[in-house]
Amino acid sequence: MTATPTRPKYEVKDLSLASKGKKRIEWAGREMPVLRQIQERFALEKPLAGIRLIACCHVTTETAHLAIALKAGGADALLIASNPLSTQDDVAACLVADYGIPVFAIKGEDNETYHRHVQIALDHKPNIIIDDGGDVTATLVKERKNQIGEIVGTTEETTTGIIRLLAMFKDGVLSFPAMNVNDADTKHFFDNRYGTGQSTLDGIIRATNVLLAGKTIVVAGYGWCGKGVSMRAKGLGANVIVTEINPTRAIEAVMDGFRVMPMAEAAPQGDLFVTVTGNKHVIRPEHFEAMKDGAMVCNSGHFDIEIDLQSLGAKATEVREVRNFTQQYQMPNGKSLVVLGEGRLVNLAAAEGHPSAVMDMSFANQALACEYLVKNKGKLQPGLHSIPEEVDKEIARLKLQAMGIKIDTLTPEQVEYMNSWTSGT
Ligand SMILES: NC(=O)c1ccc[n+]([C@@H]2O[C@H](COP(=O)([O-])OP(=O)(O)OC[C@H]3O[C@@H](n4cnc5c(N)ncnc54)[C@H](O)[C@@H]3O)[C@@H](O)[C@H]2O)c1
Repeated sequence: MTATPTRPKYEVKDLSLASKGKKRIEWAGREMPVLRQIQERFALEKPLAGIRLIACCHVTTETAHLAIALKAGGADALLIASNPLSTQDDVAACLVADYGIPVFAIKGEDNETYHRHVQIALDHKPNIIIDDGGDVTATLVKERKNQIGEIVGTTEETTTGIIRLLAMFKDGVLSFPAMNVNDADTKHFFDNRYGTGQSTLDGIIRATNVLLAGKTIVVAGYGWCGKGVSMRAKGLGANVIVTEINPTRAIEAVMDGFRVMPMAEAAPQGDLFVTVTGNKHVIRPEHFEAMKDGAMVCNSGHFDIEIDLQSLGAKATEVREVRNFTQQYQMPNGKSLVVLGEGRLVNLAAAEGHPSAVMDMSFANQALACEYLVKNKGKLQPGLHSIPEEVDKEIARLKLQAMGIKIDTLTPEQVEYMNSWTSGT
């Protein structure tokens, strides 16, 4: 008789890293007052009692606070990585050793391990899935249809995941409610813009230690992330060129003071290229061909497909690691090009992801979205649902309160005026 293989309880790099992880998690907590308040309430009210929950997120110090809050709320939570390069191994170790949260994530895991972890997570038979990019939800819908009946709902963290959920809905396969966390104001205004803006440059600087002042930086995509990256690069003294496919966003970039042109024109001018489009092959062989010797390319969009690295690799005569997360590709035309973070999210591969202060609001939305799904179990239609406006506003109110900032309230006269149409010129 052959014994049934038992699933490991966790898979992390090294449990002895836990004490380092604990200190860093505590440090991040200083900047996460909103999530802390939610955690304290969850611990008393247990809104997620009896819920099996899996979270596929970047395993960072901030995600640790989300996982701890969900567990405090009564959830039977399990965590996997949403990207092979974004895991902080000390955080993963600490969550297992000190908080008893099963984690399956190792920085640098190969694609096969990444997908095996997705399967392990689905073996947990989740009622709620917190997804970042949509991989777990897509796997559920494709390969685990028999489990869909147990799903109360999913929540999605990022733009790319929302695009995939909309495509699933259009194809008629999204048969449960999915909370659109990305589009909450207190998420994308701050996380995508200020978080990606700062942490992308942080990743580039940590990987290369180059001076950005005076460099020409080409930012592909002027969405929320692109605005943040462009704004911060300009602040550091770079000359920023924006590439876009959306005419309105292109005008916005022009009026924000940036040069806008197609990638083919920008390619020979840029010292550094950052893609943040959520699209595929935004930088292609013809662009590599035109780039300056020593030009650097990186990506901060969700998937590692924005730069056509396969074509670059196929052409290169040699690829060598010159620093951590920095690879130099020797090209047959005599030039060398530099790729950061293997074309994966450079802010998570080469740095630590977003600062805690913005993840405080993003993950407050995640925690409250889970509570909302449970409270409204069986009442929500299949498809995407916005975070309720009152939840979004409450998160903003709590954040302001924690920052010690007060704002005005409407006077009765103003309330009346805002609700009337009779008074004009
Ligand atoms: N690095 C991070 O930590 C992080 C954080 C949040 C979001 N993201 C990811 O970053 C990506 C962008 O997110 P966003 O919120 O800015 O999305 P967005 O939809 O607001 O912006 C994307 C922009 O890219 C443009 N675009 C699309 N194809 C293009 C092309 N071929 N060339 C030039 N521009 C093109 C679009 O017109 C749009 O303006 C997504 O994949 C998202 O999931 C990453």
